[in-house]
Amino acid sequence: MSHVHKNSCRVCKGMDLTRILSLGEHPPVDNFIDVEHINDEKRYPLDVYFCGTCNLVQLLDVVAEEKLFHGDYAYFSSASKPLVDHFRSYADDLQKENLTEGDLVVDIGSNDGILLQNFLEKYHVLGIEPSGNVAEAARKKGIETTDGFFTVEMAKKIVETHGKAKVVSANNVFAHIDNLDEIVRGVQELLTDDGVFVSESHYLLDLVEKLEFDTVYHEHLCYYSVKPLQRLFERFDMEVSDVRRVDVHGGSIRVYARKKSGAVALSVQELLTLEANAGLHTLERFDSFQKDVEAVRDTLVTLVRRFRAEGKVVTAYGAPAKGNTLLNFCEFTADDLKYVTDTTSYKIGLLTPGSHIPVVSPDILRTETPDYILLLAWNYRDFILEKEKELRERGAQFIIPIPNVEIV
Ligand code: TYD
Ligand code: ZN
Repeated sequence: MSHVHKNSCRVCKGMDLTRILSLGEHPPVDNFIDVEHINDEKRYPLDVYFCGTCNLVQLLDVVAEEKLFHGDYAYFSSASKPLVDHFRSYADDLQKENLTEGDLVVDIGSNDGILLQNFLEKYHVLGIEPSGNVAEAARKKGIETTDGFFTVEMAKKIVETHGKAKVVSANNVFAHIDNLDEIVRGVQELLTDDGVFVSESHYLLDLVEKLEFDTVYHEHLCYYSVKPLQRLFERFDMEVSDVRRVDVHGGSIRVYARKKSGAVALSVQELLTLEANAGLHTLERFDSFQKDVEAVRDTLVTLVRRFRAEGKVVTAYGAPAKGNTLLNFCEFTADDLKYVTDTTSYKIGLLTPGSHIPVVSPDILRTETPDYILLLAWNYRDFILEKEKELRERGAQFIIPIPNVEIV
């Protein structure tokens, strides 16, 4: 089966599920393709639902793992300088607040070791990474890395070979998991009694307030807020003990969960109140969501098509996963956007999924000056605008799609 439609909530198993956003049918965002395979491309529904019982916002259409990525998954977190800096400060926080020398830190979905590399000196570290070539990159840095997906069984094996972990982390993967129960059970097995499970995911409040509709794609199964997470951990005799908003990927939350002890930071109630005031725990908040998202799309499409009608050259910058949701929802093609530049070597030479726009090396921008460049990697806005100063001085202007459509 390449795709299933669930009819119960991932957190509370309830069936009071209402569709709050439909983006149409999209190919998986990481499936960059070559010309010969255009006709093989498959699309799956990209619809977002709200659970009336626990208020988890989620996708119910689950695309099989092997359809989400073809070939080797070649996303190396450390290729992004701002992310490297982010994980360094994240590691500093964990070190100060949760660790003593010699403790074991396990990272689920450890990628190329972007978090764990910061713990090598004083702690034992273990990464878990299903993508072989990415895991290999971590091993080259001296980070012990286990291949595969995290399960209860894997957790038990780790306890046998490495002992229990003081910190288990899962960043930008916890929202990708269909079977949350398995992960939380595994985490329970693996953690010391005073240990902490910490995860960062994009935050629903940012998504809703900034209309970050492009962060919706098949890999992102959950759009977390604090309330349903409390419910999830409660089911396993754990509790959300601390939460923090962090400024990555357009706005994320870092959630700390522990075995129940009653020591809950004030921040938990603070964010819950903020969510409640923003209406995130009611279906009504999402009444105009579809219309609001479509308004952003219409503004962008009108702008780009107007520039094209004036004979201007428009291109795009960065081919992140979310960029493909945006391109496909806007139904942009190579007639609208001449090419997309991206620094990732495996994407270069391929076409963007669905929209079929050629991905080229950013070197082209050293000689060509597009009139307008749509910034798909808008989460790195400041970094990129600074990096491309010279290009802007030559006359290229950036179109920023989110949080507000603007030209800079
Ligand atoms: P990112 O937001 O890190 O990940 P995801 O694909 O999960 O959304 O992706 C950023 C993309 O933008 C990545 O393909 C690399 C590209 N990029 C550039 O081309 N130039 C840059 O200066 C930066 C920061 C990113
Ligand atoms: Zn629910």
